[in-house]
Parts: sequence; structure tokens; C-alpha cells
Amino acid sequence: MANKMSGSLNHAMIDGPKGREAQEYANRFGQPGFQDITRAYIDQNYAGYTEENQETWRTLYDRQMAYLADHASNVYLSGARSIKLVRDHIPYLEGPKSVNTFLMPLTGWQSKAVPGYLPAKAFFACLARREFPTTIVIRPKESIDYLPEPDIFHDIFGHVPLHADPTFADFLQTYGKAALTTDDPVHTERLARLFWFTVEFGLIREGGKLKLYGSGLISSPGESKHALTAPGVDRRPFDLETVCSTSFEIDHYQPILYVLDSFEQLRDAMDTYANRILSGNARRAVA
Ligand SMILES: [Fe+2]
Repeated sequence: MANKMSGSLNHAMIDGPKGREAQEYANRFGQPGFQDITRAYIDQNYAGYTEENQETWRTLYDRQMAYLADHASNVYLSGARSIKLVRDHIPYLEGPKSVNTFLMPLTGWQSKAVPGYLPAKAFFACLARREFPTTIVIRPKESIDYLPEPDIFHDIFGHVPLHADPTFADFLQTYGKAALTTDDPVHTERLARLFWFTVEFGLIREGGKLKLYGSGLISSPGESKHALTAPGVDRRPFDLETVCSTSFEIDHYQPILYVLDSFEQLRDAMDTYANRILSGNARRAVA
């Protein structure tokens, strides 16, 4: 997917031989001899960011954090403080001031740099290990308002603060284990919908108010406001069966969103569903 943006993203950071090797490994992950997902990881190569890249991060951070202070879930805001997400520079993934250094003692989650799009099983294998595959390039200045694929602003600013919360952290790992385990296309489709309507585009009710937590909303100046205020949006109470039966479209603002009561509700629903998937696998193995 990253190749579609060739010439606009800062590809010097990921296009070396190590990046290509890691991507080829990820593409073949699961085949005989390709079982070690850590070989899909690369270094962040921090020196590769240009001053324009850093300016893009600061612009996005300032614009979005001002809005999120009143409109994001407290769990997100507290996570952002815990991992010491700052406006001054693109986050470090490794080293004493890195998000990983602050995350590790909280939940054991880590962000791992990857060269581009990971196939589904490779992505799930990372989550099952409490490792989040992280895009390291940042959107070009001319695409600051919209990028159709993840970049480091979406992946770190949007996703990672929630990984500091023990309840969400457990949910996401259980999700990864279940999705990695099943080969049933019905479950695979249902799990993709669950990810979409929670991790990417979820809302939560806190203190009687609707708040944002899905990364696709958190990292999008336009869609975050739309999700909370647009009159045409159908904001439904979260119910796992309903979510898993709702199809989604990717190329416009979401007309349907699901609202959690708490992250415990999400974790518990996922635990129940994961047990169902795992016991179904066990039954097939015995039959
Ligand atoms: Fe995402």
C-alpha cells in the first residue's frame, strides 16, 4: 500500500535493503520457514526525518490536541500523558525518551517499526505479542489534512496512547490472538468489522458525554468533529453481535458509529468471542 504514495512520503527512510527484506518476510509470513514476525520489523532510522517532517508533526499535534482536550476519552488523554507524547518532535520508538520506554512498565505493549502494509495474519501475529506494527513515515505537508493510509501520526498519536491502559491493552492482545487463530472467513470478516468500529472509529460515553477513542477519529481533524456533532451520524450503543454484523465503507466519513459504556465492556465482549473462536477450533481439531 505504501508504494502507491511513492514520491510523496519520505521513502528514503524505509526503502533500503533492510526495508525490502522485512516487507518480503511479512508478505510470506505464515508460510513454512516464515514464522518469526520480528523479522518484519525495521529500525526507525530517526535521522531520516527532515525538518519538514518534524514541522508536519508539530502542526498536526497542535491542531488535534487542542480539540481532543475536551473531546477525547480520558483514557486516551491519560495514556498520551503517560507515554509522554509531545508536540516538539516525532516520537522516538527506541531509547530512553521513547514511547516504548514509558509503555513497557505500564502494560508491556511496544510499538515496532514496519516498512509498510502488513498482510492480515502478520498484523494479528504482532498484536498477539503485544507489539503494534507502526508506520514510521509521516504524511507529506501537501497531504496534511488527509492521507488514505496510516502514517506515524495515525499510528502513534492515534493508536498508542490507548495501549497504556491495562484494560484496552488486554482487549487488543486477545483480539490479535483470536484473529491469528481462526481461518474461518466468517470470523475473519466479523473481526475486521469489530476492529473498524472500535479500534479505528470507536466512541465512548464518559460522564454522560460522547468522547472519541478510535484512532481514525483521534488522528483526523475533520472526522473527529463530524463523529461527535454531525446530525446524520447514527451513533449506536455498542453490542458485539451488532457490530460484527455491520459492514463498513472506507472512503468517506463514517455514517454509523458504536458507543462503548466502558473499555471493560469491550474487553469482556472480546473475551467471550475469543473463547467461542478457540472452542470452535478445538471442536474442528477433534472432529
Ligand atoms: Fe489504524
